[in-house]
Amino acid sequence: MVDRTVEIELKLLFEAIYLKYSYDFREYSGASLKRRVLLALREFGCETVSALQQRILHEPQVFAELLQYLTIPVTEMFRDPAYFRALREHVVPVLRTYPSLKIWVAGCSTGEEIYSLAILLHEEGLLERSMLYATDINPRSLERARQGIFDINHVRKYTRNYQLAGGTRSFADYYTAAYDSVLIDRRLRDKVTFADHSLATDSVFAETQLISCRNVLIYFNKALQDRAFGLFHESLCRRGFLGLGSKETVEFSGYADRFEPFAKEERIFRKT
Ligand SMILES: C[S@@+](CC[C@H](N)C(=O)[O-])C[C@H]1O[C@@H](n2cnc3c(N)ncnc32)[C@H](O)[C@@H]1O
Repeated sequence: MVDRTVEIELKLLFEAIYLKYSYDFREYSGASLKRRVLLALREFGCETVSALQQRILHEPQVFAELLQYLTIPVTEMFRDPAYFRALREHVVPVLRTYPSLKIWVAGCSTGEEIYSLAILLHEEGLLERSMLYATDINPRSLERARQGIFDINHVRKYTRNYQLAGGTRSFADYYTAAYDSVLIDRRLRDKVTFADHSLATDSVFAETQLISCRNVLIYFNKALQDRAFGLFHESLCRRGFLGLGSKETVEFSGYADRFEPFAKEERIFRKT
């Protein structure tokens, strides 16, 4: 009985968020979203989800804080190095055949994935001819991504990832260290356009040759995943590439027959 009430309250909360702020969490997968809202209750000193809803509706800054709970910013540079190695070894040779490239990282969080791609493209001599787009719904993450500043404590892990991903230089070539942070090289930062874009509510904005959308779709239900696959299909050029996270696949989705596995282990698919 209590659980059923919470389910109703959650539904009303997401409806309220959508109506008031146009962020659409109504089709995210239930369990993890519920967990995150319940965690936020404590932070905001609310006894019930309804009480939280009340605050969200009347205090925009509380919604800005809740958004940090609802979106999971976890990321790292060259995350799953085998993925980036596969891009380098198998996708780059095809990308080389295009005179110009548009590449989209959807759900870019604080920028680590797009900067990893920028480094890879630079080393393969393709960055000059590329336009890079990185989008997310979390304005704070986007701002941090634009700044290109990362915690120096992560550098050792990122350097190792970079090497495992087939990096051909020294990872230190791409940042300057200052106190407890590192700043990504300006030449990489200047190549990326960061923008607010939701896979749940927005439409396609460019024709692309490669889309990397990793560790975002796991938070969506099947209908919302299909919406995202629809956007990717529409955005990709003929035979364009789609890279997903290690637990994600286009197989079994409504778009299964419109993509084929290209590097199956690394979750890279190609538009048929
Ligand atoms: C776990 S992070 C993944 C970051 C990066 N792609 C990676 O794999 O390291 C998930 C990101 O998806 C973003 N996100 C959640 N819902 C989204 C939506 N509807 N449209 C675009 N991005 C979304 C979150 O804000 C968060 O930054």
